[in-house]
Amino acid sequence: MAENKSKNLLEVKDLEVSFFTYAGEVKAVRSISYELKPGEVMGIVGESGSGKSVSSYALMGIIPEPGKVIGGNIIFDGKDITNLSEKERLKMRGKDIGMIFQDPMTSLNPVFTVGNQINESLKKHTNLNKEERTARIIELFRLVGINQPEKRMNQYPHEFSGGMRQRVMIAMALACNPKLLIADEPTTALDVTIQAQIVELLKELKTKINMGIIFITHDLGVIADICDKVAVMYAGNIIETGSIDEIFYEPKHPYTWGLLRSMPKLNAEEHERLVPIEGNPVDLINPPKGCAFAPRCKHCMKICLEKKPPAYNISSGHDALCWLPIKDEYEKEVKNNGKSE
Ligand SMILES: Nc1ncnc2c1ncn2[C@@H]1O[C@H](COP(=O)(O)OP(=O)(O)OP(=O)(O)O)[C@@H](O)[C@H]1O
Ligand code: SF4
Ligand SMILES: [Mg+2]
Repeated sequence: MAENKSKNLLEVKDLEVSFFTYAGEVKAVRSISYELKPGEVMGIVGESGSGKSVSSYALMGIIPEPGKVIGGNIIFDGKDITNLSEKERLKMRGKDIGMIFQDPMTSLNPVFTVGNQINESLKKHTNLNKEERTARIIELFRLVGINQPEKRMNQYPHEFSGGMRQRVMIAMALACNPKLLIADEPTTALDVTIQAQIVELLKELKTKINMGIIFITHDLGVIADICDKVAVMYAGNIIETGSIDEIFYEPKHPYTWGLLRSMPKLNAEEHERLVPIEGNPVDLINPPKGCAFAPRCKHCMKICLEKKPPAYNISSGHDALCWLPIKDEYEKEVKNNGKSE
């Protein structure tokens, strides 16, 4: 495999996260691994409950009770941050790693003005003086498209509409120019024009400050526009990963096939019928012994029910967790051997 030697910003190795509930252990993230370089954007797609948010909370060290990381490592900028103390985490959150949450109210405190909250973060993580901090907040508000920033920064979160709150949160996440930005469905509550502006802004930051971005979204158009690679999640696993072209045009996993059929096409002129993936998501307390997608897969074989598929390397950077390409490869080999005899 031709390896890119440039240094990784993030290395996630065999990460496992479980929630210890009264009903049992919910295995929300079941051993995922990936790497991200500075200035690289990785998209994460997958149906609701597949572990997209929880796996990114692990990077920030903010998995809610009763959940915890039970295995694996998170290496950020060459340092193992899997088990940092809360004090070390606080230093890092907002400064080195910024996060835009799915729900803006998760990160906005209702009792402080929005300007005050960004100011606190700048005070904690930068050497800017009071005037410079105010200037930075105004600059950030302009960047994310909030008019009258001088007035708006003195307002409270409840005085903003949903879309505006999302923009405030984006401004907050970007305030200290983090090395890594985790954007969890950052544009869903925004109208199309603002969505496009935010994506443009992130693209600019990716090149300008070499920011690595993890972009969780259901929007294939956004993925194609901003991401360098994609990870498809299903039942707590990354079941396929590859470049945009590999995932969109040469997908190898039956779940990815289904997912692509169930989402609007990139080309808006095509009005193809969307086909939902039949069947129910997996019970994460008692996941199947073999492939988690087996109960919903039209290509399921005997081995799929018995053994968890290994990661099959299709080409450099393109892997699928599925028996099907392995079987195809095996049959091809048998056929070729037969011919040469
Ligand atoms: N507080 C919790 N207690 C128990 N289980 C939880 C908790 N939070 C999440 N989970 C479990 O973790 C799994 C992954 O959740 P996660 O929020 O990461 O999904 P997601 O892929 O982000 O979905 P969505 O697209 O709806 O945002 C869920 O299926 C759920 O069972
Ligand atoms: S491993 Fe088997 S059941 Fe799972 S997706 Fe592949 S073919 Fe389908
Ligand atoms: Mg989520």
